[in-house]
Amino acid sequence: MSTLDLVIAGGTVVTAADSYAADVGIRNGRIAQIGEGLTGSDRIDATGLLVLPGGIDAHVHLDQATSDGTVMADDFASGTRSAAAGGNTTVLPFALQIKGQSLRACVEDYHRKAEGNCHTDVSFHLIVTDPTPQVLGQELPALVRDGYTSFKVFMTYDDLVLQDAQLLDLFEVARRERALVMVHAEGHDAIKHLTRRLETEGRTAPYYHSQAHAQIAEREATHRAISHAQLMDLPIVIVHVSGREPMEQIQWARARGMKVHAETCPQYISLTADDLRGLNMDFDGARYVCSPPPRDADSQAAIWQGLRDGTFDLFSSDHCPFRFEGPGSKDNPRARTSFRWVPNGIPGVETRLPILFSEGVSKNRISLQRFVALTSTNPARLYGLYPQKGSIAIGADADLSLWDPNLIQPIRQQSLNHGCDYTPYEGMEITGWPVRTLLRGRTIARMGKPVKEASGRHLSRQASEAFA
Ligand code: URP
Ligand code: ZN
Ligand code: ZN
Repeated sequence: MSTLDLVIAGGTVVTAADSYAADVGIRNGRIAQIGEGLTGSDRIDATGLLVLPGGIDAHVHLDQATSDGTVMADDFASGTRSAAAGGNTTVLPFALQIKGQSLRACVEDYHRKAEGNCHTDVSFHLIVTDPTPQVLGQELPALVRDGYTSFKVFMTYDDLVLQDAQLLDLFEVARRERALVMVHAEGHDAIKHLTRRLETEGRTAPYYHSQAHAQIAEREATHRAISHAQLMDLPIVIVHVSGREPMEQIQWARARGMKVHAETCPQYISLTADDLRGLNMDFDGARYVCSPPPRDADSQAAIWQGLRDGTFDLFSSDHCPFRFEGPGSKDNPRARTSFRWVPNGIPGVETRLPILFSEGVSKNRISLQRFVALTSTNPARLYGLYPQKGSIAIGADADLSLWDPNLIQPIRQQSLNHGCDYTPYEGMEITGWPVRTLLRGRTIARMGKPVKEASGRHLSRQASEAFA
C-alpha cells in the first residue's frame, strides 16, 4: 500500500456515534486509514485535541441580491474564509431566484459568483420565488436531477412570499423529484397586520420587529406547512425554529409519523427579544434584527431540550450578514423610520460551532456525539452529502476540524474574518475553539485565520436520506 500523505496523530477522534483515541491517515484528500502508530509523509500532532468531521453549515446566505438597496456583507470569498476559520469545511448557501428570472439562469449566476472564490466546499440550495409552469414543469425537475436536491420556500416577506396554492404545487414537484423542501414558516398576513398596528401606535423602534414577528405567527405557519406536506406525503425541513410553540407543532407531527425535520440556530440559544431593545430602545437593537426573532428564556430552554432529545436534526447559522454602518447597511434612512425596513439577518457562520460547543458541550448540556450529529453528520445525511462528507470513515473526504476543548477566549469582532462590521455575540466567553481546519487533507484555517488559497469546490448532491 502506498505511503500516507498526512497523519493526524495522537488526537481523540469524535463522530456522531463514538469517541476513541486514534491516528487518522490521509491519502489523495481522503481518509485512508484510522488506527494506532500510523506514519506518513507529513504529520500533524493532535495530542490533547479532538478530531471532528469538518462542520457543515447548511443555512448560509452569501452575496444575495436584495430588493431594497441593502448589501450583503459577505461574498463567497469572505463568507467561506469566515466559515473555514470557524471550523467548517462545507457550507450550503442559497441561489435566490428573482421573480421573473429563469431558475437555471439564477443558478448559473451564483456559480459565477462562487467560482474560484470558495475556501470551503459549497453546494447551493435553490430559493424558489416564482413557481411558473416553466419552473414547475421543466427547470426545477432538471435542476434536482443535476444535483441541486433541496430548495427553500418563504411564507413571508413581500418579495419572496408564496401563496398556499403555490406551496402545494411546489411540494407536489418536490415529492415527485425527491427534493427536500426547507420552509421559512412565518405567517405573512399576521406579520403585516401587527406591523401596521405597531406603526400606528408609534412603536417603530427595532425592538418591535420582535413583536410583529410573533411566535404565534410562526406556530401557525409551521402547522400550515406541515399540513401541506402531509397532504403531499412529503418530508420537509422547518428552518430556523425560534421557540417552544413551533417546536410543539413539529413534535405533534412527528408523533403522528410525519417526516418533519427541524433546524435551529445560535441566535435562539444565545439571544432574546430583549437584545433588540438596544440601549433604551434605540437603533442599536437593529444589530439583532433577524427572522424569526430571538424569543425569551422559556423558548431558549425549550430549544436546548429539543437539541438534546432529537427534535432538532440541524444546528445551522442562518448567516445573513448586513453591516451595521455605512452604505447599504442596516442603518439606512428608511430603517430609521420603522423596524419594518431594517434588513433581516445577522452574521454567524464563524461563531456557530464555538457557541454550540461552549454553551452545549462545555456546559454539559449536550454530548460531543450530539454536537457532531447536529453540526456535521445530520446536515450531510439530510442534504445528500453523506458519506463523502459528515463522517470520519475510510473513503470519506478528509474534511476535519481539530478542536482544543480547553481553549478559553471571548468572541471579538476584531478577530473574526467575516465582512460584517459587528458580531451579535461580542464578548461572549467561549470554552473550546477549533484550532485547525482541513479540507480534503489541506489546511484551510489555523488558529482562527484562513489560508490564502481558495480550494473549495461546488458539490453536486444526491437525494436526501429523508426520502429513504
Ligand atoms: O433574518 C433572516 N433570517 N434573514 C435571512 C433570510 C432567512 O429568512 O433565512
Ligand atoms: Zn428564512
Ligand atoms: Zn436564512
